[in-house]
Amino acid sequence: MTTEKRTILLNPGPVTLTKGVRDAMLRGDWCHREPEFADLTRDINARLVRVYREMPKDFESVILTGSGTCAVEAMLASFAPRESATLIVANGVYGERMVKMLAAQGKPHCAVTSAWGEAIDMDAVRTALDARADITHVATVHHETTTGRLNDLSALGQLCGERGLRLMLDAVSSFGVEAIDADGWNIAALAATANKCLQGVPGISFVMARKHMWADELVPAGSVYLDLAAYYQGQHGTGFSPFTQAVQPAFALLEALRELEEIGGWEQRRSIYRHRAGRIAVTLKRLGLQTLLPPQEFSCVLWSWVLPDGDNYERVHALLKKKGFVIYAGQGGLGTHIFRIAHMGDIQNDDLERLDAALRECFAESAGAAR
Ligand SMILES: Cc1ncc(COP(=O)(O)O)c(C=O)c1O
Repeated sequence: MTTEKRTILLNPGPVTLTKGVRDAMLRGDWCHREPEFADLTRDINARLVRVYREMPKDFESVILTGSGTCAVEAMLASFAPRESATLIVANGVYGERMVKMLAAQGKPHCAVTSAWGEAIDMDAVRTALDARADITHVATVHHETTTGRLNDLSALGQLCGERGLRLMLDAVSSFGVEAIDADGWNIAALAATANKCLQGVPGISFVMARKHMWADELVPAGSVYLDLAAYYQGQHGTGFSPFTQAVQPAFALLEALRELEEIGGWEQRRSIYRHRAGRIAVTLKRLGLQTLLPPQEFSCVLWSWVLPDGDNYERVHALLKKKGFVIYAGQGGLGTHIFRIAHMGDIQNDDLERLDAALRECFAESAGAAR
């Protein structure tokens, strides 16, 4: 680390790194075709499936060089069928992106789309499934980062189980910190990334799927780079990947996984993020700000806050950035209405104290108006 001022990233990834993760990237110059890198790949994949206790018995992972979108697109390319349809259940940008991916892949699909911020509409899901007998797969997002909503997947997962549908999950911004009930929700495959709740660096993402999915249910991907069959064969055979892997981000991911294990796992990290969310919420609520959703509907990862009347994101962002904190704008139509604060990464108590002061300075006027 240089002596430059510490910047705290409150955007939804990449995150403020721990010193351990940052230093891990200096481990050395490795070739991705040497046995030590194959061992590292195996080690990472083994640790990834161990993040959730029930997953190692039936899930296997592959890592990809690319961002979260790369993993989601590879999952759909390699597991969404061509001969039957996939239903996408969307309530934000990332669900809607999966619709675009399947359209780009030319695969049969349909969507149940709710307004951003709304919960999954299970009645509409049932109606959509009843209307099309050729739906065999369902895809959805766990934590919709568009708003911070943590989608409750229990009813959807149960329905998939009852109807024998394969559920594919975008867990990009929940993996490593929110509960993922792989068996209870009948998850067939999920996609996630290194640089959010796992607290690694951008460059590596991964797809996990049940053993029977890898063995029997891969489809021709229609893509060279996103063809998970090749990654699976390589990484679970020789240990090598079909293409150059992001070597230094892999060092960082291994260290990030070790650090997650060291603190006691995802539940422990969830308590830490919840504590941060609660602390920030106390400050912002005292200043008269309101959350976009009821607090209990947010993930612990990110909350959306409504901009005070007459205020604008650019002002809030600029002032907080000057104080060393990077927040995130709302997407699409929410851009003028909300700002988002994520709680990931290496954030210490004194950072939270400085943030508290910065938020009080930032919203002093709206607090005055609210009184
Ligand atoms: C739920 C979800 N899915 C997918 C993505 C895309 O990830 P990336 O920007 O790493 O490609 C994001 C990014 O924030 C996300 O939050």
